[in-house]
Amino acid sequence: MKYDFETPVNRRNEYALKWDGPESELPMWVADMDFRTAPEITEGLLETVREGIFGYTGIPESWYRAYRDWWHREHGLSASEDSFVFVTGVVPALSSIVRRITLPNEKVCIMPPVYGIFWNSVENQGRRVLECPLVYNRESLSYSLDPERLEDCLRDPQCTLLILCNPHNPTGQIWSRKELETVADLAEKHGVTVVSDEIHCDITLPGRSYTPFAEVSESARRNSITCMSASKAFNLAGLHSAAVMIPNPHLRQRISRGLNNEELAESGTLGALWH
Ligand SMILES: Cc1ncc(COP(=O)(O)O)c(C=O)c1O
Repeated sequence: MKYDFETPVNRRNEYALKWDGPESELPMWVADMDFRTAPEITEGLLETVREGIFGYTGIPESWYRAYRDWWHREHGLSASEDSFVFVTGVVPALSSIVRRITLPNEKVCIMPPVYGIFWNSVENQGRRVLECPLVYNRESLSYSLDPERLEDCLRDPQCTLLILCNPHNPTGQIWSRKELETVADLAEKHGVTVVSDEIHCDITLPGRSYTPFAEVSESARRNSITCMSASKAFNLAGLHSAAVMIPNPHLRQRISRGLNNEELAESGTLGALWH
């Protein structure tokens, strides 16, 4: 099937968060696209809409299969269906994970320059941000991790959680397997849990692919929570639908309880049907 990436869609005066401001402003801070989603997705949603029933909705088995199969086929991730938990968005998941894994006033490590909402997800919960800045390399025009500085941050006894952005927003950096292994090893060594925000993983340049954090080593699998969504690649942010993938059953139970207690694990009628 040929997809249409040419026809412009006018989203002004339609309550689009991105285009609601003055005409002179370019709303680069909102990461959604001005292309229509894939026609197959619209058709699938229309089938439900035509039925005209919008009652309370469970998460269908096909939702779990869709995540498992897509990440396996596209990114080589081996995950069982039961390691996925529905959540209404990656940011709600991050905030809930901060509340669940850390205690008030503890520190959460992030790697600036990074998605600004990470600060909110930490500070709004009464926790502190511990910054581990990336190193800018002027020759390769790319950013890299500073393992020594990262270890200094993670060995801080007040630091209990690391939020990784993989691939990294806004630098566009795709972390190598080796860099991710370093993060996994240091995090495990210092007893720090890793939450890996992988929401942008499907948008890479041709010929480039990303490595899921949970795939790099046994310690990464044991000690990580991965946030995923179809929202960026397929322009579905308004459906408020995402997943956390947690291979470790004990950690999954803990996070899943948090998401359920905070009423973040239930979908609207259309939210779990986009696949
Ligand atoms: C790195 C990153 N995480 C999360 C989000 C937002 O996720 P959600 O809309 O699922 O809360 C964005 C949106 O731009 C983002 O760039």
